[in-house]
Amino acid sequence: MKIDRNALEDENTSTLEQASTKRLRSKKRRTRVLLGLLCFLVVAGVTFGVAMQNSRYPDAINMGTSCNMDMSNMHDMDMSMMCQAGHGVAAGIPVTSLRAPQTAAHIDEFTLTAQSAHLPFVIQGQSDVQTYNGTAPGPTLRVRQGDLVVVHLINHLTVGVTIHWHGVAVPNSADGVAGVTQDAVKPGQSHIYRFVAKDPGTYWYHSHQESFEQRGSGLYGMLIIEPARPVVHDDIDANFALYTWNSTLVFNTSTGAQTINARPSQWVRLRLLNTDNTPHRLVLLGTSFLVAALDGHDLNGPTPLTRVPISIDAAQRYDLRFQMPLSGTVVLLPVDDNGQYQTTPSVLIGQGSNLHLPLPLPSISQSVFDFTTYGHPTTNSISPRSHFDVTYTIQLGFTIGFSNMRPGPVFTLDGKAFPNTPTLLVRTGQLVKLLFVNDAIGGIHPMHLHGHTFTVLTKNGHSLTGSPVRLDTISVAPHETYEVAFYADNPGLWMIHCHNLFHANHGMDMMLAYPNISTPYSIGYASGNFPD
Ligand code: C2O
Ligand code: CU
Repeated sequence: MKIDRNALEDENTSTLEQASTKRLRSKKRRTRVLLGLLCFLVVAGVTFGVAMQNSRYPDAINMGTSCNMDMSNMHDMDMSMMCQAGHGVAAGIPVTSLRAPQTAAHIDEFTLTAQSAHLPFVIQGQSDVQTYNGTAPGPTLRVRQGDLVVVHLINHLTVGVTIHWHGVAVPNSADGVAGVTQDAVKPGQSHIYRFVAKDPGTYWYHSHQESFEQRGSGLYGMLIIEPARPVVHDDIDANFALYTWNSTLVFNTSTGAQTINARPSQWVRLRLLNTDNTPHRLVLLGTSFLVAALDGHDLNGPTPLTRVPISIDAAQRYDLRFQMPLSGTVVLLPVDDNGQYQTTPSVLIGQGSNLHLPLPLPSISQSVFDFTTYGHPTTNSISPRSHFDVTYTIQLGFTIGFSNMRPGPVFTLDGKAFPNTPTLLVRTGQLVKLLFVNDAIGGIHPMHLHGHTFTVLTKNGHSLTGSPVRLDTISVAPHETYEVAFYADNPGLWMIHCHNLFHANHGMDMMLAYPNISTPYSIGYASGNFPD
């Protein structure tokens, strides 16, 4: 057996010496760890600070496309870098010149006053809410197709406001987007919106200054464009805006049951709007019904549905039609995600004073209404076989980071957050295809395009088998893809954004723009214009 002399000698070293070396070593190690930690914290802190600072909105971002630049690959470019205020702003067609005629045979004129009001069902520290004309929803504006609509907005609030006409192909100057088509209307000031009510249907309006806050605090209402020559006759035409106040769902202003008087065999149209950020499911009981229109656009050959729940995503509208049965009450009720009824709020339709729920409530169909297979096909100017002049893919994503200095969720389009998202450039006359791809982490994205209505081409690669479907807001669920297409027929600077306005407020906005358009307005701290 060999003995290692060195080892022996080492063992003989005094234990005291050994202990002190050990102590020294561990002290050094501790210092190194502490230094490392400090370095890490400094680097992390600086990175955090820089990332936070970088996410801050610039003082002024001009969304015009009139800058003297090559537009061919604008999709890949950083718009905020391209058109800083003061560069090329004066050139090009100003958005303010893209407007409706001054007069027309018929003019529908309204005044909407933004004012605070106390609503009975708002507890929230009993604080007042922001409204148009003292109610939320604001007044329902009913106009005739073809009329010139003139709306005077007067602001009696202490914050700037606008009105955006959701789903209506208004001329760009009337789009109501703070910092793009106008300045937010300051307290005490007023603004006039003018547009021709071209396409009949169910639409709505809401503020597009800090829209997440302001729509959420009551600045919204419904706009109904009645057809000049109705193809069907409705005896009763009622509209309901769904909104959740302090986690209580309301239909217009009611948290309970409200009634509509209708006689047997009368035709009833219910126009339903979801003003919330997330989908609502509803079911109609007591008769079969038709889904007559989506986002205000009629469906072809709608077929009767019985107890089929419909899911209305943020900002979407459903027109339901049905003929009153010879007896009994027709009921509209919310359904939760598990297919369970909620019994309030409700709409009871029938005759007499004691309308009531048909108890026990029948079981609901398990499958939710699917617009991709509903109604009958018919020729449509846009189909999956059309020739598209330009196609853009829009990746709907999510990350954790900073959005305008706030740490937390960031909702992205093509990996970027507004105002650093790419701009989609389209030219007048082009047939434009958009492909929405949801990467599945950020939830459901109800994607809305301003100023245009698109035809849905495919869902997850499959063409629609029923009626053509035209929408202004498409709900893209996790893992889903949708192709939609539209004619670029309304020059201007238009937003595309998620209508879960929390997502929009945290990055999920981009611009769809025509070339050579300028705007005298800017988004950012200098103007105080923040569209979402
Ligand atoms: Cu209803 Cu840009 O929104
Ligand atoms: Cu979203």
